Amino acid sequence: MRIYRAKDYNDLSRKAANIISAQVIMKPDAVLGLATGSSPIGTYKQLIDWYKKGDLDFSEVKTINLDEYKGLSPEDEQSYYHFMHTNLFDHINIKQENTNIPNGREEDSEKECNRYDNVINECGGIDLQLLGIGSNGHIGFNEPGISFDKTTHCVALTENTIKANARFFISERDVPRYAYSMGIKNIMQAKSILLIASGERKADALYESLFGPITPAVPASILQLHNNVSIVADEEALSRVLADHDIISGGQIS
Ligand code: GLP
Repeated sequence: MRIYRAKDYNDLSRKAANIISAQVIMKPDAVLGLATGSSPIGTYKQLIDWYKKGDLDFSEVKTINLDEYKGLSPEDEQSYYHFMHTNLFDHINIKQENTNIPNGREEDSEKECNRYDNVINECGGIDLQLLGIGSNGHIGFNEPGISFDKTTHCVALTENTIKANARFFISERDVPRYAYSMGIKNIMQAKSILLIASGERKADALYESLFGPITPAVPASILQLHNNVSIVADEEALSRVLADHDIISGGQIS
């Protein structure tokens, strides 16, 4: 695991975008696993900027998003479909048919989860999976207590996550209670993983995930067992890690 220390959110966003760009440049038909939330917005902005400058080409790239709220349609402004289009897809030359997001409108959970697992398999697996982290250590919508061998599944969101995500909705009551999410097994099968974390509110979750016991109580702690993980985090998110460890150049910790 490599941990890259960023000065602040802008620095984090540029570093993360550099890692994603390197993947796209080295493999123009890469399969990118993408995330939503506030953390990746700056990374996506930077990728759009480099695309507009002619430095990046997404014409052969495929994307598979981590999750979607169950019950929201693509037209819903709070849907992750809408988020991805507004924050990335509508500004780059990716082909719509190469983008994948769980279908929030599908009421039959088993059918949708099987379909999504097939999408991931048919793409040949994910080359680089981008992840944010919830303040309770969740990744995608894999909430504490989740079994590590789950593939795509329907999740009942925890109160903690409903509260944290309420800022994107008119009120907490409007936050959907269920979501479709790739499982930990899908995430762990990605060839490489890039986790980004910004702000003090992530400091405990990040510390526990990187240095605590590997336990379903902290879903991101499973990443300790993946052989190709990069963490890019700002100093606030790393505050607890930095109290115990030095992060030296090249992302190594001592
Ligand atoms: C949501 C998403 C996660 C994301 C998390 C953190 O619950 N499902 O994929 O990582 O929120 O969000 P933020 O980056 O806004 O803190």
